[in-house]
Amino acid sequence: MKKASTAVSPPPPSPEITARVDALLGKMSLAEKIGQLAQISGAEFMPGPAAEDTIRQGGAGSVLWLNNTKRFNDLQKVAVEESPSGIPLLFALDVIHGYRTIFPVPLALASSWDPDVAEQAQSIAAKEARAAGIHWTFGPMIDIARDARWGRIVEGAGEDPYLGSAMAAAQVRGFQGSNLADPERVLACAKHFAGYGAADGGRDYDPVFLSEAQLRNVYFPPFQAAVDAGVATFMSAYMDLNNVPASGCRWLMRDVLREEWGFTGFVVSDAFAVGNLVIQGHARDGQDAARRALTAGLNMDMASGTYVGNLADLVQDGSLSVDQIDEMVRPILTLKLQMELFENPYVDETLLDKVVALPEHRQAARQAAQRSMVLLRNEGGLLPLSKNLKNVAVIGPLADSMEATEGSWMVFGHQPAAVTVLQGVRAKLADGAVSYAPGPEINRDFPHPFGEFNLSERKPLQSLEDAEAAFHTAVATAKEADLVIMVMGENADMAGEFASRGSLDLPGRQEELLKAVHAMGKPVVLVLLNGRPLSINWAAENIPAILEAWEPGSEGGNAVADILFGDVNPGGKLPVCVPRSGSHAPLYYARTLTHQPESSPMYRSRYWDSPTTPLYPFGFGLSYTTFAITKLRLSKAQVKLGQSITVTADVTNTGQVTGDEVVQLYIHQKWGSDSRPMRELKGFERVTLQPGETKTVTFQLGPDELRYWSTNANGWVQDAAAFDLWVGADSLATLHADFEVVD
Ligand code: GLC
Repeated sequence: MKKASTAVSPPPPSPEITARVDALLGKMSLAEKIGQLAQISGAEFMPGPAAEDTIRQGGAGSVLWLNNTKRFNDLQKVAVEESPSGIPLLFALDVIHGYRTIFPVPLALASSWDPDVAEQAQSIAAKEARAAGIHWTFGPMIDIARDARWGRIVEGAGEDPYLGSAMAAAQVRGFQGSNLADPERVLACAKHFAGYGAADGGRDYDPVFLSEAQLRNVYFPPFQAAVDAGVATFMSAYMDLNNVPASGCRWLMRDVLREEWGFTGFVVSDAFAVGNLVIQGHARDGQDAARRALTAGLNMDMASGTYVGNLADLVQDGSLSVDQIDEMVRPILTLKLQMELFENPYVDETLLDKVVALPEHRQAARQAAQRSMVLLRNEGGLLPLSKNLKNVAVIGPLADSMEATEGSWMVFGHQPAAVTVLQGVRAKLADGAVSYAPGPEINRDFPHPFGEFNLSERKPLQSLEDAEAAFHTAVATAKEADLVIMVMGENADMAGEFASRGSLDLPGRQEELLKAVHAMGKPVVLVLLNGRPLSINWAAENIPAILEAWEPGSEGGNAVADILFGDVNPGGKLPVCVPRSGSHAPLYYARTLTHQPESSPMYRSRYWDSPTTPLYPFGFGLSYTTFAITKLRLSKAQVKLGQSITVTADVTNTGQVTGDEVVQLYIHQKWGSDSRPMRELKGFERVTLQPGETKTVTFQLGPDELRYWSTNANGWVQDAAAFDLWVGADSLATLHADFEVVD
C-alpha cells in the first residue's frame, strides 16, 4: 500500500502569512476574534438572526448548511466590505461522496481497495464543490465501524484500521491536493474525532467506551493517517467517549491531536455539540460549556452560538485570557490566508455549470462504481448475462430509485439524477426486452428527523392494499420473464445519520417477494443497493447470483449493468464482514483468540442457536475469472527488532477473462506484552491480470506494521515474538508462512 505523504498537518504557513496573522490579531477586537470561532447556519429553514447582520458585525468566521453560489458571494461581500476587519468567510458543507456528480458512498469506495479511486472521487467532488463556492467539506468521515447496525457505517471505510488509514489519506489528498491555495480544492475535515463508530448497540449518538489500546490500535490510525496526509481541520464527535463528551475532551484535542500528532490546523465541533455539553451533563450552563470546550482545544463552535454568547464574559471575568482566544483564532486565520481567500474571496458564478458538465466526471463516477462493487455469489456462472436476452424482468422497490442509487448524505438541495439499475439494464438490451415492477415500497418505521427539513425523501406511506397489489403485480411480471433481476436493499434514508437499525434483514416484504420469484424456478440475480452489510442468509443459500452494489452514485445503474452483462469484471472486496444477524454485531475479524478458538471442533460457534462466523468475511469478493496466489516468500525467516521483512507472492489469473484480484497480507503475533488479534491486515494491492498472466506482489513488514499500543506496557511496543503470516484473497487466506522477530 502506498504510504501517505508525511506532510505536516496542515502544511506550515510562510513567515509572511504568520506576520499577516499577527497583524490581524493585533488590530481585531475581542468580539471579532470570538466571531472567527463561530460557524453560523446559512440554512433558510433554520430560525435565527439574519446571517447578514451577524456577519456585518464580525460575528461569524464560517457559514454552513448553505448551498447557493450567488448567496455565497452576497454574504462574502458583507464580510469583506462591511465587517470591521473584512475577514472573508469559510463556506462549509457536507460533500461526502460528490457534489453534483455523485460517487459511490465511502463504504463503497473502500470496497474498491484502491486508494486512487477514492482520491480521484474526492478530487472531483472538491472541484465541483469549489466551483459552487464551497471552501471546506466536512469529510472524510473516517470512523472505524464494526457494528453494522450503526447507520453511519455507510460514510466510512469499514472495520479495519489499515484499509481505513489508506482510504483516509487518499480522501484528504483528493479534497485538499498539495496546495491549499489551489482554487479547485477544498479544506478537508477528519471526522468524527474519536470513536463514534463504537456507539453502544450501534445506536447513533449513544455513549462509547473504548480502552486506550482500542483507540490507539484501531480507532486512531485513520485519523493519524489524515494528519500525515496534511488534513487542515478536524471535527470533534458528539458522543461521550469514556464518559467525557468528545467535544470537551482535552486528552483527544490537545494531548493526542496536537501534542503527540503535531496537528496545527483547527477543530470544529459537530453540530451544536458545544451547547450540547450542558445536555450531556458535562457543563453546568452555556458559559461553562464554552470554557470547557475552548480549554479542551475546540477552535470553532458549529451553529450552537455558545462561544459568541459566552466567551467575552469569560475573558472579562478572567476565566479565560485573550491569549487563549488568540490561540484558537490563529489557525483559522492562517488557513484563510493559505487558501488566499483574502485575495480571492468570491466565486465565478458561471463556473459551476461548466465544471459539472465535464464528461470525465461522470466517467470517473462510473468507473469508481464499477470498481467498488462486490460479487458475493455466482453459482453456475449465471453471470455475466447475455446481451441477447429478450425477456428480462427488473423487480424491486429500488430498481428505479434515483435516491437509493445515489445514496445517503446528499448535498443540501441536490436533486437526484442517477442512472437507475432499471435504466442501466435497459440500455444494455434491445428495446422491449425489459419489464419492470417495483413491488411493495419500503419505509423506515420511524421517519427520518431530517425529513422535516426535506433533507430526506418524504412521501405518504403506501397503504397495505396498494402494497399487496404491488406485490402481485411484481410476481405476475416476473412470471412472464425468462430471467429476473431483483434490486433490493435499503432506501437512502435507512443508512447515514440517525439511521441505526436493530436488524440487518432486508426491510419490508423484500425477502418475501424474493422467495416468491425464486419459487418460479427461473434464473434470478439479486442486486443489493444498501448502506450497510445486510444479513441476507436465505438469499446467500438460494439466489445463484448476488452483486453488492452499495449506494453507487450517479452512474450506479450503468455500472451495475456493465458488471451484470460482462463489460466489466467485478473486483471489489468487502471492507466489513457481513453478520448473519444484527444481534451478532459488533462483529469483526481482527479479534484476539480465546482459550477455546472457534477453529477447534468443539467450539464451532459462540452461540448455540446459530453460527457466529460471518455470512461473508472481511476482504471477500468474487470475480468472473479465477486466481491462484502462490510462492509466498520472505526475505528472512528471522529479523531483529526494528528491521523489516520483505514478503512476496505470485498471483496468477487462472481463468479465461481479464480480472482484478486484491492480494491481502495478514499477520498474527503469537505471544507478547498483550494478546494480539488472530489476524490483522498489514498490506494489500489490487492487481489487474490478463488470462494466464502472473504478477509478483511485494509487501514490507517493519516496526510501523508490527508495533502496537500495549495495555500491559501502557505504551507503544514492538515485541520480540513469533508470527503467523498469510497472503490471500480475503481474511480467511490459507497460504501461510512463519517469521520471528528477535532481540
Ligand atoms: C451532522 C453530522 C456531521 C456533519 C455536521 C454538519 O450532525 O454529525 O457529520 O458534518 O452535522 O452537517
